[in-house]
Amino acid sequence: MSQWTPSSWRDHPADQQPDWPDHAALDRALKQLATVPPLVFAGEARQLTGALAEVQAGRAFLLQAGDCAESFENFSADAIRDKLKVVLQMAVVLTYGSGVPTVKVGRIAGQFAKPRSSPTEMVGDLELPSFRGHMVNDDAPTLAARIPDPDRLVAAYHQAASTLNLLRAFTKGGFADLSQVHVWNQEFVATSDEGRRYEAIAAEIDRAMRFMRACGIDLAREANLHQVDFFTSHEALLLGYEEALTRRDSLTGDWYDCSAHMLWIGERTRALDGAHVEFLSGVGNPLGCKIGPTASVDEVLALCERLNPERVPGRLTLISRMGVGKVREALPPLLAAVRDAGHPVVWACDPMHGNTTTTAGGRKTRHFDHVIDEVRGFFATCHAEGVWPGGLHIELTGDDVTECLGGAEEILEDHLDARYTTACDPRLNARQSLDLAFLVAELLRA
Ligand code: PEP
Ligand code: CO
Repeated sequence: MSQWTPSSWRDHPADQQPDWPDHAALDRALKQLATVPPLVFAGEARQLTGALAEVQAGRAFLLQAGDCAESFENFSADAIRDKLKVVLQMAVVLTYGSGVPTVKVGRIAGQFAKPRSSPTEMVGDLELPSFRGHMVNDDAPTLAARIPDPDRLVAAYHQAASTLNLLRAFTKGGFADLSQVHVWNQEFVATSDEGRRYEAIAAEIDRAMRFMRACGIDLAREANLHQVDFFTSHEALLLGYEEALTRRDSLTGDWYDCSAHMLWIGERTRALDGAHVEFLSGVGNPLGCKIGPTASVDEVLALCERLNPERVPGRLTLISRMGVGKVREALPPLLAAVRDAGHPVVWACDPMHGNTTTTAGGRKTRHFDHVIDEVRGFFATCHAEGVWPGGLHIELTGDDVTECLGGAEEILEDHLDARYTTACDPRLNARQSLDLAFLVAELLRA
């Protein structure tokens, strides 16, 4: 095998790369990105690997959540804050319910590029190049909007930087303090059944803190009560961008992709001899890899070998996204084979991407019942195979959207148009997300 370098992926077939019309402009953008400051540091990525090793050992749970596609338009402090609120709420429910720590990883601060099933799409009678995420083109239904523009790579970097800056401020500067546990319950959530259930836990946490204080424990000195570790992740799809942000760590001499703490490989780009697997095999970050229903035992074992040959616990998370109808048949042989081969992977469940349907009106949606049932199937399967169900990977928003059907509000097809704002796939809204967290906490406890 030839030597890995940040650009050795260029000798492998790279799927899902945009057809950039202006190569000189692409070159300029990538050169600029190669000189900008890194978004994260290698030490932080190693810290996440360590946290995921705890997940792998069955002593923690991974919550990976955020947008399907971040948007250049819906970019505001409020949107970031509200998304963080939901993740913090879910983490409280999971940690309180299961008794194990929750490792919090956002699909955020870099989740701008989308793989597509087809290079073109029909909008009415018009055939247009597909929308590939705001890092590439615009979603407006015109030919001009869909032309890939390399300046968007640079714009995405800057938006990721300011998103991460705010996340760091929120998570380390007081907003994520456990004393704020009530504040995370947004008004429209607090008045719902899920919100009231959450309030009950929040009240118990208050009581526990008062109890500890009364016992003479100096809570002010316990940093873990006042700050949280929140990590970033995205699909490493556009390899030119990822290469440009890959830097050598001065402490270890190893290469890290400094565009995010964790990077994952999508279902459409996990070919063993492909460019995505080649690129990510050489960076030190913790990695994810989506595993869909067509993945064979041999393929999955080969991916484990290729992406984690040293068998480092926490290095590799396999994200099962089978669909509700397949998870109970397709997952067990994979769990068993990886277990028997002794590969120390985290198994996480993405109950979203195998359950996407299109309504008669042309809206992409997912039914909450299918999401729940795939999660149940994942837990049952892991339990039967003696494998720790290590995590949940979902698309959510802090907003009160109507994108996924069902849930306690009983969102129907007729309601989807009311508040459907996603830039790509349908996301769980805040109430559905909280509901799901209660279910997963129960499954973890059992
Ligand atoms: C995604 O996570 O947004 C995605 C496209 O998933 P998958 O690769 O599993 O289809
Ligand atoms: Co998606």
